[in-house]
Amino acid sequence: MKKTRSDELKRAAAERAVLFIESGTAIGLGTGSTIRPLLELLASRLATGAVRGVVAVPTSEDTAHRCRALGIPLVTLDEYPELDLAIDGADEVGPRLDLIKGLGGALLREKLVALAAKRFVVVADESKRVRRLGTRVPVPVEVIPFGWSALLPFFEKLGATPTLRRAADGTPYHTDGGHYVVDCRFPHGIKDPAALARALARRPGIVEDGLFLRLAHLAVIAGAKGVKLLRR
Ligand code: A5P
Repeated sequence: MKKTRSDELKRAAAERAVLFIESGTAIGLGTGSTIRPLLELLASRLATGAVRGVVAVPTSEDTAHRCRALGIPLVTLDEYPELDLAIDGADEVGPRLDLIKGLGGALLREKLVALAAKRFVVVADESKRVRRLGTRVPVPVEVIPFGWSALLPFFEKLGATPTLRRAADGTPYHTDGGHYVVDCRFPHGIKDPAALARALARRPGIVEDGLFLRLAHLAVIAGAKGVKLLRR
């Protein structure tokens, strides 16, 4: 398949980020199209002996499957409750490296892994950068299937236009944890992400939201002028 400019930028970000993975690192590996080249690069560094003794906690079944195929040794978060590093993509990178994540549906495991890591590095191309969170993508909210539609007025009161995510065949999309995702679009972006996160966290039926606030330590952003490192 022909590589797009966006594929090239994702690979450039991954090439820089893979250098953070040193021998002996217990790493959390994210999910999505920016992480895929990173998995290939890590596998080839392990194969050549450039790094050794790396173990990885995958944030989705998809990433786990890819790691197995590439020969990246997997462990669980129960075995490694504290990780040296986590590397993951993002759907939006806002001010102070606050993020929206979860368009790929892996937000719950991604947040658990990010919280477990001493350092959380985000990889993205520059199209993901925003001045205000919520202006480019909706906030994915993972909910339990029981009574999910009873949550819709709650989301609307918070200013969102909520839509149940569906699979290609029209049935509700299921996360790896067996939950649904309601994508909450904010027509003018999110004024106060921290207040929104607090409101979502208090509501029964909500498992997790895609606001990753004050979690990322560093962002590796690939753009037309090269790869930049942004610190929080
Ligand atoms: C997965 O649930 C997401 O949080 C991804 O990390 C995010 O969607 C970034 O994916 P891409 O690298 O494919 O844009």
